[in-house]
Amino acid sequence: MSIHARVDDPCATCPSVLAIVPSPVREALPAPPLHLFVCANRREEGSPLGPGCGDNGEALYMELKRRVARRGAHTTIWVTKTHCLGVCPKVGATVAVYPAGRVLADVEVADVDALLAPDAV
Ligand code: FES
Repeated sequence: MSIHARVDDPCATCPSVLAIVPSPVREALPAPPLHLFVCANRREEGSPLGPGCGDNGEALYMELKRRVARRGAHTTIWVTKTHCLGVCPKVGATVAVYPAGRVLADVEVADVDALLAPDAV
């Protein structure tokens, strides 16, 4: 696999323009069967978009990590903390689930079993 869009070298004839140079990208690991992206984004107080997932996302992320560790499933279930996923919930946090390609809002710690069930999401 290679991606041809690394932009980090200035163009020789017009130094203010960056050149696009080929950049091989290596595939480090096969994608896990389940990868959960948990939003823990925080917004400033008074934001019209609400407070963000913040503490709810942190708590959900920590519980998912704890459960995955308990199962010894580090290679098959990846849990990654993210910033805003664009579906800011009223309660809980937002989680993007891959490879299913689903985005779940209002996810709470009580939903962890469902998130980790083999065919639940
Ligand atoms: S702040 Fe979490 S999805 Fe927007």
